[in-house]
Amino acid sequence: MEFKIQQKQTSKNEAYIIDDEKKLSSIAGLTKDELAFISASFVAEQTVVTINRPGGFVFIYLLKNKKSDAQTFDTCRKGGAELCGLCNKHKLAEVTLANLSAIPNAALLVAEGMALANYQFLKYRTEAKKIAHTLAIIYFTKTSATLKDVTQLSATIDAIYKARTLVNEPLSFLSAEQLSREIAAMGKESGFKVTIFNKARIEKEKMGGLLSVNRGSIQPPTFTIMEYVPKKALNKKPIVLVGKGVVYDTGGLSLKPTLNSMDRMKSDMGGAALVSGAMYAIAKMQLPLHVIALVPATDNRPGQEAYVPGDVITMMSGKTVEVLNTDAEGRMILGDALEWAKRYKPELVVDFATLTGAASVAIGEHGIVCMGTADEETKKAFRDSGNRQYERLVEYPLWDEYGEQIKSDIADIKNVGGPSGGAITAGKFLEHFTDYPWMHFDIAGVSFATSKKGYLPIGGTAYGMRMLLDFLTHYGKA
Ligand code: BES
Ligand code: MN
Ligand code: ZN
Repeated sequence: MEFKIQQKQTSKNEAYIIDDEKKLSSIAGLTKDELAFISASFVAEQTVVTINRPGGFVFIYLLKNKKSDAQTFDTCRKGGAELCGLCNKHKLAEVTLANLSAIPNAALLVAEGMALANYQFLKYRTEAKKIAHTLAIIYFTKTSATLKDVTQLSATIDAIYKARTLVNEPLSFLSAEQLSREIAAMGKESGFKVTIFNKARIEKEKMGGLLSVNRGSIQPPTFTIMEYVPKKALNKKPIVLVGKGVVYDTGGLSLKPTLNSMDRMKSDMGGAALVSGAMYAIAKMQLPLHVIALVPATDNRPGQEAYVPGDVITMMSGKTVEVLNTDAEGRMILGDALEWAKRYKPELVVDFATLTGAASVAIGEHGIVCMGTADEETKKAFRDSGNRQYERLVEYPLWDEYGEQIKSDIADIKNVGGPSGGAITAGKFLEHFTDYPWMHFDIAGVSFATSKKGYLPIGGTAYGMRMLLDFLTHYGKA
């Protein structure tokens, strides 16, 4: 999707955003009949009214204010998704947005919703050309957006598209090595450094968690390090992002029940997709932040050599883990990545992982379960970003008592904490490998959708990306 500020009247199709019917009088050229038609449509509770003129389409979007700003903003995105659907239905290639409402950033929000909804994954469809959406350019009238807004939006949308595509790619294409290659390509395109560790290097570093999960696999693991260094950084010590990169999760020998439960497990690298996409946007926006991202990657399979329940694994940190369920593999590979992060003496470490079914069961698909040891100010900043972007956060406690649940009889810790508090005991496991301010985001419930919802398509959603980028954009600016 391309975004442009309109220089002169070039677009044939126009969309006006109004928050009051009275604003209709400021739209030039509406006939009396059209005005009557628009009013009648609004009475019939339509949000977007379509006028099909020979010279081009006119859309009127009547925006309704909600209880909170955050909700009103998200209504704009949803309105954008609806408008996007209409543009594609009428096979339009472009449309100009004009904001006549009292909400200053309404056009941007509507454009964001349009772009989010316009995404498609057509790589494996023979009839791709026929079913591809036609909408390709969104123009803004000069008073509806600034150049800076447009550049930021464009970087965010590109990052989201890339992350969604990585999630949508099946294991038949996206092995751990391929994921690393895709990340390298993203680094080259936007300007961040990428270093890929192969299996030999991972062995040399003694990443016992990552290696044990990989043992049942027929393909080698990778460990990918991304780094973005700006000319002048606001942070003295780096911010480190960590993303779970399980390119497929069968559960390993603790095999998932085959009926449906594996259908979406190609999406178990959603965290990796999110942090690599974020790096892409950070570099594109040239944020004044020193950021590093780490992606431990492998599939989790029940091969001949697979690690077994009962095994004791020595992690890179030296801690020993009794494996009681090979399906609790995410924490095994993240433990090593979080340990690796220590060498940067980071200011903050943030991990994203499709870690537990428990998080998904607890709050469903309408938010992210988070927890961590970062200070209250940081937590509030994340919460505010989550609300602004409508990718909301629910914080769970890391109370000591939950730590008791992962004590092992024969090793330092075990990788499962029993039937209760599953999202938290997973977080407690990760906490063992941290000694810096840290936040953990469990995106198991939100990273993949099985039906289209507003501006979220079926498949990879990249949910959390806008929250994270919003947080980073505000970081260090008091
Ligand atoms: N990748 C799964 C978590 C998951 C489940 C993500 C459903 C998305 C949708 C993770 O590796 C897993 O299997 N977790 C287990 C942990 C358990 C064995 C302690 C779970 O949640 O059941
Ligand atoms: Mn698993
Ligand atoms: Zn998993």
